[in-house]
Amino acid sequence: MIDIQSLSFTYKDEEHPALRDVTLTVPDGGFLGIIGPAGAGKTTLVRAVSGVIPHHYRGDFYGSVSVDGMDTVDTPLTDLSRAVGMVFQDVDSQIVSTEVEDEILYGLENFGVPHSEIPERLDFALERVGIADLRGRSIASLSGGQRQKVAIASVIALRPKILVLDEPTGELDPVSSRQVFSLLSSLRKDFGITVIVVEQKIMLLCEFADRLAVMDQGAVVRQGATRDVLAGADELEALGVNCPRVTTLSQLLSKRLGRSMPVCVNLDEAETMARGLMA
Ligand SMILES: Nc1ncnc2c1ncn2[C@@H]1O[C@H](COP(=O)(O)OP(=O)(O)OP(=O)(O)O)[C@@H](O)[C@H]1O
Ligand SMILES: [Mg+2]
Repeated sequence: MIDIQSLSFTYKDEEHPALRDVTLTVPDGGFLGIIGPAGAGKTTLVRAVSGVIPHHYRGDFYGSVSVDGMDTVDTPLTDLSRAVGMVFQDVDSQIVSTEVEDEILYGLENFGVPHSEIPERLDFALERVGIADLRGRSIASLSGGQRQKVAIASVIALRPKILVLDEPTGELDPVSSRQVFSLLSSLRKDFGITVIVVEQKIMLLCEFADRLAVMDQGAVVRQGATRDVLAGADELEALGVNCPRVTTLSQLLSKRLGRSMPVCVNLDEAETMARGLMA
């Protein structure tokens, strides 16, 4: 479980806090989506979950973050990173090797994974992310989207209990983006891992996340079950967060028809609603 209590954080030499009194819990096996406008503090929050705040980024830290029973302030980053696998928003900052295969091996060797297990872990990661064909390629020859997939593969090879991804599909086309979310969903089903994703592609996110946290100016301004958070579509739009079009459609129809319609979060639900209206 991830348990964040009254967390405030101000980066060193900054005037304003990047996180303000954030309280948030994610149960084991949960899938939390984090949304919010640029500069809201999404990246800062996931840095605090992975422990790079406060271990790498200095600043004023108040409150507590507990990850899989470990307090992030008291626990060395090496121990935290065994529990939490993190894909950074800027994936190039986390890639350390010049070849794809070496990049995945690097983490496995660093974590002291037994040599007998390494080939299987390597194949598993490459195949689950759909990049087996990139295995022998140099990192420099890859597109941004391919590098993003390599970063994801190197993290899932480590089989962390908790996966945290900061805009993991930013460089990916719609088909690859969906593949990443399907992968996360299958890892969750197969291994019971906990997933936290910061994502702009809200329609996709809402299909997979069971809970959403909405951030604005360093605070979590709304959190709850995905459907309940989307029910406040007007409030989200006011923050500059686009809701899935099916959600907006169901709410516009509610207003137009003067009766309450169910909040649609995916195309199937919108179809059911439309058929109901036509019947
Ligand atoms: N390393 C840093 N040092 C100082 N200030 C920072 C640092 N990283 C982020 N900030 C500041 O903290 C605030 C929150 O930024 P953060 O990157 O967490 O937002 P975000 O929601 O992830 O934004 P985006 O959608 O653009 O990725 C911003 O005011 C930002 O300028
Ligand atoms: Mg960010």
